[in-house]
Parts: sequence; C-alpha cells; structure tokens
Amino acid sequence: MFVEGFRVESPRVRYGAGEIESEYRYDTTELAPAPAPEGKGKEWVVRPKSVTYHFKTTTTVPKLGVMLVGWGGNNGTTLTAGVIANREGISWATKEKVHKANYFGSLTQASTIRVGSYNGEEIYAPFKSLVPMVNPNDIVFGGWDISGMNLADAMARAKVLDIDLQKQLRHHMASMVPLPGIYNPDFIAANQGSRANNIIKGTKKEQVDHIIKDIREFKEKNKVDKVVVLWTANTERYSNVVAGLNDTMDNLLASLDKDEAEISPSTLYAVACVMEGVPFINGSPQNTFVPGLIEFAIKKNSVIGGDDFKSGQTKMKSVLVDFLVGAGIKPTSIASYNHLGNNDGMNLSAPQTFRSKEISKSGVVDDMVSSNAILYDPGEHPDHVIVIKYVPYVGDSKRAMDEYTSEIFMGGKNTIVLHNTCEDSLLAAPIILDLVLLAELSTRIQLKADGQDNYHSFHPVATILSYLSKAPLVPPGTPVVNALAKQRAMLENILRACVGLAPENNMMLEYK
Ligand code: NAI
Repeated sequence: MFVEGFRVESPRVRYGAGEIESEYRYDTTELAPAPAPEGKGKEWVVRPKSVTYHFKTTTTVPKLGVMLVGWGGNNGTTLTAGVIANREGISWATKEKVHKANYFGSLTQASTIRVGSYNGEEIYAPFKSLVPMVNPNDIVFGGWDISGMNLADAMARAKVLDIDLQKQLRHHMASMVPLPGIYNPDFIAANQGSRANNIIKGTKKEQVDHIIKDIREFKEKNKVDKVVVLWTANTERYSNVVAGLNDTMDNLLASLDKDEAEISPSTLYAVACVMEGVPFINGSPQNTFVPGLIEFAIKKNSVIGGDDFKSGQTKMKSVLVDFLVGAGIKPTSIASYNHLGNNDGMNLSAPQTFRSKEISKSGVVDDMVSSNAILYDPGEHPDHVIVIKYVPYVGDSKRAMDEYTSEIFMGGKNTIVLHNTCEDSLLAAPIILDLVLLAELSTRIQLKADGQDNYHSFHPVATILSYLSKAPLVPPGTPVVNALAKQRAMLENILRACVGLAPENNMMLEYK
C-alpha cells in the first residue's frame, strides 16, 4: 500500500514551526585487538556502543536556483526540458503511445521507502516525504556554456528528446541563453574548439571574479534564496597536483593570483563557489577538487560533492559485484566496453580526457573486493578493463557491454555478460536533480552528539551524495563506499534519523 506522507509521533521527535528536532540512538561498535591464547594469532574484541545524536532540520524550503556549468550540453538541456515538461504537465505522442512527463530515475522523486506495516501489509511512502525538499518543478535554472547556443536549439542539437515534445518545449527554452564560460583548450579535447564561441576573457583571477558576479546577479534577478552550482560540462583531463601549486589552500589561491596555467576551468568555477559559500558539485570524472581546493572548502565550510554521475554501467557494477562478493563468489575479470556518439563521446575520444573517465570507473569495486579476504589474498584484485569508443551514429544512446568472470565452487567458472542500451542523458538528468536537491537539503540539517555543546552541519565534503557519484569524494581519512545498496541505505537512514525513525533493519521480527 502507498501513502503520500506521514508524521512521526514519538517523544524523540518534535515538529516545530520552522524545524524538526529529533533524537536518535546510533548503535555502532568499537573494536580492539586483544591478547590471544598462545598460538592462536590475533583476537578481536567487539564492543557494542550507543551514541545519542540530536538532529535539527530546517523545514522552510527555499526558492532554489540551479546553475549548470555546461548548461547547453546534452545533460543540461535534457534536465531543463524535463523539468519544464513536468512543471507544465506536458504530454506528447510517439508511435507507441502518449507519454506524460515524469521523474523516473530520480531517487528522491520516483522511489519509495518502507515506513512500516499495517494489517499485515507493507506501507510505502515517497522517498521525498521523509523531510521537506524543494519541489523540482520550482527550480529556476541558469548557467554557463562555452557554446552560446540558446537552450531550444541546444536541445535539438542534443537529439535526445522526442520531436513532438521538443516542439512543445521550444518556446519555453528559446529565450534561455547560457552565460559565457571559462574555456581552456588545454583541458578538454581539441575537437571541442569549434563550439567554443561564448567565452569569458581575462586572467584566471578575473574569470573567478566574473563567475562570482554571475552567481550574484542570477540570485538577484531570479529572487532565489539559495543557489547550487553543478558541473555537467565536458570531462577535462586531470590537472597535475604539484607541491607549491595546488596542494594547499594558500598555494592554490597564490597560484590563482599568479595566473598559473595548470588550474583547470572546473577548479576555477569551484573556487568561485567556495568563495561565495555556494555548494559546488562535480558531475564529471576529473580531479577538480585538487587538495588545495578541498582544504579551502573545509576551511570555508562550503559544500563540495562529486565526482562523476553514477548513471549506467558503474551503477550496475556497484550492484553486481556487491552481490557476487556478498554471495561468496569471486569476480576475477571485469571487462567493460562502451560506445556512444554524443558530444561527450567525441570529447572522450582524446586520450587525456578518456584517462579521467578510466580512473573514475576503475575504483568502483575496490571496497567490495577488500571486504572479503576469504576470496582475495592481500593485494589481489580482479582484472578490470575499461574501453570507450566514439561511434557518432548511435548519438546519445550509449551502449555498455560488460563481461564478468568469476570463480565459483570447486574450480568452476561463471561468466555473466550484460548489454545495456539507453539514452545517456535520460539517465543523468534525474541524477543531477537528486544531487542538487540533496545538496540543498544537506545545508538545512544540523546535528550534534550527546555531550557536544553546539550543533554543526555535515562535513562540507558531502558524502551524503555518494549514491549518485561514480567516484565518491570523501573527506581525507574517510572510507569510500561504492556498493549501491549501502550508499542508498546511508542516505535513507540519515533522513530517517532526522525524523526520529530507526534504520530499516529488514528483520520483520513481528512475523517470526
Ligand atoms: P555534452 O558534451 O553534451 O555537454 C557538455 C557541455 O559543456 C557542452 O555544451 C560544452 O560546450 C560545455 N562546456 C565545456 N567546457 C565548458 C566550460 N569550461 N564552461 C562551460 N561550459 C563548458 O556532455 P553531456 O553528455 O551533457 O555530459 C556532461 C558531462 O557529464 C560529461 O563530462 C560526462 O562525462 C559527464 N557524465 C555524463 C553521464 C551521462 O550519463 N550522461 C554519466 C556520467 C558523467
């Protein structure tokens, strides 16, 4: 059964006029090595530990502005078009049927959570009903692109949405024109040069100042309370991390003043956002967040999150390998082939930008492999190969082919082959939506453990977004979790804690 919403009645939650306060018992463990009996190796003692946390969530939902870097690209136009189509309640005909606008693929908008059972029936509610979130239909979009094409023409250039839908959207989008962007041909493929006609001139410091001015003007013009900036522009090559250049906050800011060549455009946008205290999310694989930038964001307590949208092949991988390793099966070889024909594919055909994607896609099984030393010897890892080819004809309809070979019981081998075909931007757009909605929400949540005097916000490096990221950015010294089910549980359980609900434990003891 489905319910639209619910209210928690408990001494541990208080719904106030502008906030929800909750108390939450966080049950965890403390581990310690203990002296083992002679000849028995090391023994570990596990002590259950409970800490009470207090959460405070502001329930006043702001008017949200979202500024996309790469607004005129396939993802930027598809997301903008999709939100307008939802807001306007647009439907369109294809040869199959009449379609209605929806938010399928969005965790917050189209998935549910179990809230309990009633008369033996499971009751589900929308994920977004846990705590008040911005309604995506109310978001004001804007942003930058090095291509000055208006969004209606850019939507046509992307060749993603059905033509009958495009026709209905054109008049909404023709007047939307991206602001000039920061262009540095050294960081993206040379084949992008022909679309770069909308560019901010000047030194790097002047470019950062320009972005700050853009954000302020956008906020003012659209009367939005908050802005989130998200990079969905071309994948850049990695920047070199060099001592004295970008390894610390001071060095990065000094390098900016010196107009150093090795600061990428994405890092410049991120610096502007941190200076302005605006959340910045990186949807591409490059190392925008060089150490100096991470230090800067932490010092300024300004939200950063990323990297690289976890949309298709990697999402499957972080489910399948989790299942295999969790089932005691040993994946020994993973070969992932992609081909795609959109502008992203063309940009990734250059070796330096491909390398960024290869790195981002490669780390995804590490946490699962290292969780099972029964299967893997220390340092052992499955062979893992990533191939991406540009095939213009298939356009945005990306093909991902994966072969997983595993060792099973008594020397047997198992090979699973997947073939995944789907418009890439239709996968990415709802993920972008979730990223900005959750980034905004995370700025309204505060917490403190028992004994602490003051509430604090989440760490500015937003691990809460890791479900949506191929290579989750974490604060230095924090474990990276890639397994999709764990990432979803983390997010859901934190939001449940905000309303005083225990984590979903799936024990169903009442029926045992
Ligand atoms: P796209 O190539 O269609 O769009 C990128 C846009 O960024 C272009 O319009 C380009 O002119 C603009 N641009 C490039 N450099 C810029 C700069 N410095 N400032 C402002 N604008 C700039 O690519 P698409 O398909 O929209 O993908 C965007 C990014 O998202 C890519 O890096 C891609 O790797 C990443 N991504 C996409 C996924 C998907 O499923 N679609 C999944 C994971 C990541």
